[in-house]
Amino acid sequence: MKLGVLISGRGSNLQALIDACAAPDYPARIAVVISNKPDAAGLDRAAAAGLTTQVVDHRGFGSKAAFEDALNDALLEHTVDLVCLAGFMRLLSAPLVEKWRDRMINIHPSLLPAFRGLDTHEKALAAGVRVHGCTVHFVRPEMDVGPILLQAVVPVLGGDDPERLAARVLAQEHIIYPEAVRLIAQGRTKVVDERVEIDGLPQPPGLA
Ligand code: GRF
Repeated sequence: MKLGVLISGRGSNLQALIDACAAPDYPARIAVVISNKPDAAGLDRAAAAGLTTQVVDHRGFGSKAAFEDALNDALLEHTVDLVCLAGFMRLLSAPLVEKWRDRMINIHPSLLPAFRGLDTHEKALAAGVRVHGCTVHFVRPEMDVGPILLQAVVPVLGGDDPERLAARVLAQEHIIYPEAVRLIAQGRTKVVDERVEIDGLPQPPGLA
């Protein structure tokens, strides 16, 4: 399966995908890494891995539709099968999202549907939740909404600040994002009534 990874910044989730794809038996490869920011650190990670990169700078277009057409063209040019948003900080509008329905996924740093949007770790601490985590989901036009593929849970510990909590969550992001891609690439996922059925999903310990 050919992946198109969209980034805007640091690219640590991109790195997790790069590392996963390095295993010979991993069923996906990165065809192109696209950044809307020319200075995204993730572009250096992609180049270091010998990947094709492309900058589609949103500031260079007269309209959001023109920007999204250019993104779509880049994805098609590289015959991408699955789009992976990995810290891509532009909201995509319905026409583009619908073109990639059930073929575009996102990683979000909370247990959706809790804490959509930005500053999720601050929000979790403010809410006083005892557990927090991350979610991989198929993308829908509404922000941070869509059928859930995988989630990972971390404890919220006494003395946590947003940075400490974010680091604990990020370590889990790097595990579940490549795992979700693997499940899709193996053809083991199906969206039914806006929920994801997974063939052979192991039950988390304690929930079986
Ligand atoms: C991650 O926390 C991800 O969940 C969110 O944006 C952040 C991107 O980090 N969507 P990185 O660029 O992958 O390091």
